[in-house]
Amino acid sequence: MKTILTGLRPTGNLHLGHYFGAGVNYLALQDKYDFYLEIADVQALTDNFSDPGKVRRNVKEITTDLLAIGLDPEKVNFFIQSRIPEIAELTVYYSNLVTVSRLHRNPTVKSEIAQKKELFGSDGESITYGFLGYPVSQAADITCFDGECVPAGEDQMPLVEQCREIVRKFNSIYGTVLKEPEILLSENKRIKGLDGNDKMGKSLGNAIYLVDDEETIKTKIMNAVTDTNKIKKDDPADPEKCMVYYYHELVTEKDDLPTICSECKKGERGCVDCKKQLIESMNEFLRPIKERRKYYKEHPEIVDKILENGTEKARCKAKEQMKKVKQAMMLDYDN
Ligand code: TRP
Repeated sequence: MKTILTGLRPTGNLHLGHYFGAGVNYLALQDKYDFYLEIADVQALTDNFSDPGKVRRNVKEITTDLLAIGLDPEKVNFFIQSRIPEIAELTVYYSNLVTVSRLHRNPTVKSEIAQKKELFGSDGESITYGFLGYPVSQAADITCFDGECVPAGEDQMPLVEQCREIVRKFNSIYGTVLKEPEILLSENKRIKGLDGNDKMGKSLGNAIYLVDDEETIKTKIMNAVTDTNKIKKDDPADPEKCMVYYYHELVTEKDDLPTICSECKKGERGCVDCKKQLIESMNEFLRPIKERRKYYKEHPEIVDKILENGTEKARCKAKEQMKKVKQAMMLDYDN
């Protein structure tokens, strides 16, 4: 079975964007691969170093969310990045194999710096060594476990590419030890926010979280953006311009969609009623996820154990890999 590895920064709960973008994909992959899922607390600290409490709290929250969507801890090794010291060690060795200018050119790093002006300055003048270097640490995440494939979205492509470059450089200098990983692009699309924004995100305030209670969901859906040309209840409208219809397509029974669509186009369906129907199907959709979440919330010791077991397994694999790396780099003093 091939080894795959991916990571998530524990900085908040999962929302529907995560679920449709990555979660559904993970569910399909867990049966086919030896799956390592890293809770990337060290990487999360690179842009949250002043708020360690947030990172700490979210390690367990995000693990609980991932279990709630139905990932099976028997199939997926959940582990905590900071508990694998080999990753940090490997990061130091890799840091010689990458130039600072190459890191500055990494498109993902660039766009993140641009988004985090309050942290890194309007021109990136306050960028930290740690943040600039996180692609190196991510290359260590992947190769520490001999990861062959990295399931991720398009935004992670430059990071996997940079990892491949590091691998090639390492192998050319020290001998062929490392595998060049490939990205396993998620087939699932990025979903839009309730406001029609192309991206659903915490900072945009347009997300539905897996943990949202029914009252919150009601408020959010009632405020969702609909076709602005529709003023009165019986005006015809265009479902393609309506976020309520967009979400119906995601969570409402497929059989009901043609009716919703044609009633909307003919002006036979008011937005309020349409939203009420969406609230119901959204609650229905989230019910099994919330039930599993409730179970894990009531048994936090089970989540701890899952992280413990996954971390132990990951540590074993990392130690093996580290041995090979140190041998190749002539750092094997203990042999
Ligand atoms: N960079 C990823 C993110 O921001 C998280 C991550 C950490 C990751 N380590 C990884 C992704 C290894 C893929 C492989 O979401």
